[in-house]
Amino acid sequence: MIDDQHVPALRSALSRAGFTVDAVYALLGDDAHRALGRNQSVPALRATRGGGDLATLVRLFALQVPVDRDRADAALPRLVEPLAAAGLLETSGGEVRALVDIRPYGDEDHDWWIVCDPTPGLDGRQAPMHPEYVLGISEASSSLAQLTIREPVGRTLDLGTGCGVQALHLAQHAREVVATDVNPRALAMARLTARLNDVDIDVRDGSLFEPVASETFDLIATNPPFVISPPGSQVLVYRDSGMPGDSVVRHLVENAATHLNDGGWCQILANWAHHADVDWTADLGQWLEGQPLDAWILQRELVDPAAYVEMWLADAGLATAPDYVQRYDAWLDWFASERIEAIGFGWLSLRRTTRAPVHRLEEWTGEIAQPVGPVVAAWGRRVDALRDVDDTALLDRTFRQAIDLVEETRGAAGADDPESIVIRLQHGVRRTRQVDTIEAGLVGASDGDLTSGQILDALAALLDRDPADLRSAYAPVVRELVEEGFLT
Ligand SMILES: C[S@@+](CC[C@H](N)C(=O)[O-])C[C@H]1O[C@@H](n2cnc3c(N)ncnc32)[C@H](O)[C@@H]1O
Repeated sequence: MIDDQHVPALRSALSRAGFTVDAVYALLGDDAHRALGRNQSVPALRATRGGGDLATLVRLFALQVPVDRDRADAALPRLVEPLAAAGLLETSGGEVRALVDIRPYGDEDHDWWIVCDPTPGLDGRQAPMHPEYVLGISEASSSLAQLTIREPVGRTLDLGTGCGVQALHLAQHAREVVATDVNPRALAMARLTARLNDVDIDVRDGSLFEPVASETFDLIATNPPFVISPPGSQVLVYRDSGMPGDSVVRHLVENAATHLNDGGWCQILANWAHHADVDWTADLGQWLEGQPLDAWILQRELVDPAAYVEMWLADAGLATAPDYVQRYDAWLDWFASERIEAIGFGWLSLRRTTRAPVHRLEEWTGEIAQPVGPVVAAWGRRVDALRDVDDTALLDRTFRQAIDLVEETRGAAGADDPESIVIRLQHGVRRTRQVDTIEAGLVGASDGDLTSGQILDALAALLDRDPADLRSAYAPVVRELVEEGFLT
């Protein structure tokens, strides 16, 4: 990678060209931008014919086409030779080509650049992936960035940093960021990402928790190489750990507590195997056994083995490979031999606790309003508020219904009573819950004034029911409504 002395010059060249997410979007326009999202470059090539430094950078990096040397020199003054010497560009016959991607990236408050390998498969080009390929911003990276709790913290760890994207986010709210990887190309790119954006990240070489063996953190965010592939298949380091089945995720779960400070979170994006005749929550529950960890595990998607194999063979650039059918067949054979019937994809949020751990393992494939990180933090606070609180104490508390909670009733027009009542959260995990009249009344009257016990007593009087019966029947319901975020 490039010498320190050239980094400020590169940063100012990118800034001067206005190489930001918004400016590139404005240059390309809607259609070309959407086409690029589908990995098609032709509309963007047409939109950048006009010239200008921004267009040159887009053609060079995003569109992967050679640009004339004088255009490259204008956009990257006095940098073409040093970048070529560092292996980031290649010069030949009066033209310059990029060997890596430098891409604008940002959040609401920042414009950053990420250094990674060029996007594969542009315009339908099929080629097997390089084993040390360094991934750019993937859907998974964005999911983890949105899942991560963004509260001010001390020490953080980005395990498997790749291009350094999670580390960059962590650096905005942490005092210290450690980023690890085993791929030397990823380490170099993460370092350049950090230097280019002028953030301090301690990038370390080593596998899983090895580089931080005796260290603890307040927050660990990891998008690990979680693909579940047969042993002996070629390892693509950005997605394969080389460990059997889903044991890389198991390893992270089983070792998280050792590397967390009390109250610290470990947030993991992962795949896990569904074995024949075993409930997935039992499998993952075992990983948590004996760990001082609260856990909220959300399964977002369930994929059958064939769809999974197709997805990851295509991702590896092997969809048109001569041995595609054999690879597909061998992968399915291996799934069958392991009794893997489906693969779950989802999010694990683990928090080190000194109290009795609470586990919530559930599937929610419905809508989620992003970012979901604040919702995870709020779940942690609700768990703390409910832990060790018995039913009597619970009913002595006041609750409010969640902000923007809606109630939907269904039934024959003009009927006195609805056939069904559903309450629906509008933020975070947009859960729904079918409720009866008493639950609906309880939620409706929860405005932080009366205790839940007082509301149940009033409902008992109104509906001519025994107040003691109602309290004992509905205390667990109140607990669930709080756990699920309908009441806060
Ligand atoms: C799916 S990529 C995630 C990259 C980036 N953090 C993101 O969110 O987009 C997984 C990363 O883990 C790295 N990796 C693979 N095996 C590893 C290991 N045993 N220990 C640490 N990192 C590893 C890969 O090189 C790759 O950069």
